[in-house]
Amino acid sequence: MNDYSYDNQTVKGFILSSLFWGVVGILIGIWISIQMWNPSWNIPPYFTFGRLRVVHTNGLAFGLGLGAIFGIFYYITMRLTKRPLLFPRLARFHLYLFNVAIALAALSLLAGMNQSLEYAELEWPLDIGVVILWVIFAINILGTIIKRREEQMYISLWFIIASVVAVAVLYIVNNLSVPAGLFKSYSIYAGINSANVQWWYGHNAVGFVFTTPILAMFYYFLPKSTGLPLYSHRLSIIAFWSLVFAYLWTGAHHLVYTPLPDWIQTLAIVFSMFLIAPSWGSVVNGYYTVAADWSKMRTNYLTKFFIFGITFYGLQTVQGPTQALRVVSQLIHYTDWVPGHVHMGTMGWVTMIVAASMYYIIPKIYNTEIYSVRVANTHFYLVLIGQLIYSVTMWITGIQQGALWKAVNPDGTLKYTFVETLVRNYPFWKLRTIGGIIFAIGMVFFIYNILMTIRKGKSLSASVA
Ligand code: HEM
Ligand code: HEM
Repeated sequence: MNDYSYDNQTVKGFILSSLFWGVVGILIGIWISIQMWNPSWNIPPYFTFGRLRVVHTNGLAFGLGLGAIFGIFYYITMRLTKRPLLFPRLARFHLYLFNVAIALAALSLLAGMNQSLEYAELEWPLDIGVVILWVIFAINILGTIIKRREEQMYISLWFIIASVVAVAVLYIVNNLSVPAGLFKSYSIYAGINSANVQWWYGHNAVGFVFTTPILAMFYYFLPKSTGLPLYSHRLSIIAFWSLVFAYLWTGAHHLVYTPLPDWIQTLAIVFSMFLIAPSWGSVVNGYYTVAADWSKMRTNYLTKFFIFGITFYGLQTVQGPTQALRVVSQLIHYTDWVPGHVHMGTMGWVTMIVAASMYYIIPKIYNTEIYSVRVANTHFYLVLIGQLIYSVTMWITGIQQGALWKAVNPDGTLKYTFVETLVRNYPFWKLRTIGGIIFAIGMVFFIYNILMTIRKGKSLSASVA
């Protein structure tokens, strides 16, 4: 018998908070998608596209994404280290602080307080709050790992450590600024240095919020939920070290054809191409794991979430490096192609794996079965269809936009005015809204299933799951 218990309350608190912020963020996503083809949905000054867009990105990346990461990391870390968290009360405080920070972040962004750095919009008082929040989290996670009762470090722990350390470094470096009052500050970087640091941060926010934490979940929950052992531990370790090494050099692929020195752009492009290998190391590991018994795709409802999720990750990590190439960047940069890329990653990879992880955790900590497999399957198909409509429409309209912007008359003048290129987006933007609504309905099924499972479950006990 084990002589310890896990703190499931905090895990549950983070999962429910993540779902709450997810609902807010997704509804705002639909709202801003409508604003793009129907400007009357802008309600100045607070509910304009400019203000709501950042609430959408922050709400989903940091509310849904980080909320899930905090809760699920606590869950995984306790089990892989075979001990409770080092500081359970601190974890509870972390949960409250997290919700206060996200609420204040949303309000401050609606009020127009914004550093104008993408994914780092928050003004300096909130930045300090975020750093405190992260330090609390890091102390608990790293401390628990150091004091672990299991000598072996499973691959998920490596991905967890990388996420915790990298986000801390990235966030602090990019947010260094000089305050000019309580709600305004100026970055210590200027000009092209500012752009370079910003996209070093921006790309790695994608790397260490939308990639490494999700891989930590994938590696933990795929074998757990299928009962199939991971195909290769060695491959997972090689993929891990090469991924984290390469990621940090690629930020400048967001700045192709800018005044940034050419060699920095080329370096970023080369490392972006290199990233295909470690990314696909994880994809292949996932496929070969399930290849031991493909019938799980039919018999185990979670398997298809993991396999489709890792497939979208695989597609994303081929599309991303391709976008970094100069010849492709000159066509798709600044177009709707990029939100198409973003949402294949966020809706197809991140939310699929996060949802599957929650489907695994909630019945475990409530000592019950999932409320309805049929509802889970409906959820799966709706989010899949919604995401595909979103991404495919944006790729089509993105290529069209790029081509129209580049078209020139024999005398060198532009063939189309900007407005002429803009109106052609309207049908695709409307289709995107439909895709978003289908995805959102899928998420409603998911949340309903989770809440009904909680209701069905026995009262929460601190039992070992
Ligand atoms: C090998 C891995 C990847 C590479 C090399 C890569 C490359 C790129 C490039 C070059 C861009 C900029 C496109 C442009 O504006 O011209 C971009 C944008 C973006 N990518 Fe990826 N990508 C990768 C994987 C991912 C994954 C897994 C996600 C997960 C969701 C993701 C999310 C994003 C986001 C959010 C942006 C938009 C950033 C912004 O402009 O605000 N990427 N990516
Ligand atoms: C109902 C589903 C969703 C809808 C309708 C939606 C809609 C949108 C729209 C309209 C934009 C602005 C694009 C632009 O500026 O041209 C956007 C940007 C963004 N969304 Fe979503 N979204 C959804 C789900 C998500 C999810 C689940 C996530 C993350 C987990 C997410 C993360 C982002 C990010 C990171 C950006 C910035 C992209 C960039 O700068 O290129 N979205 N979304």
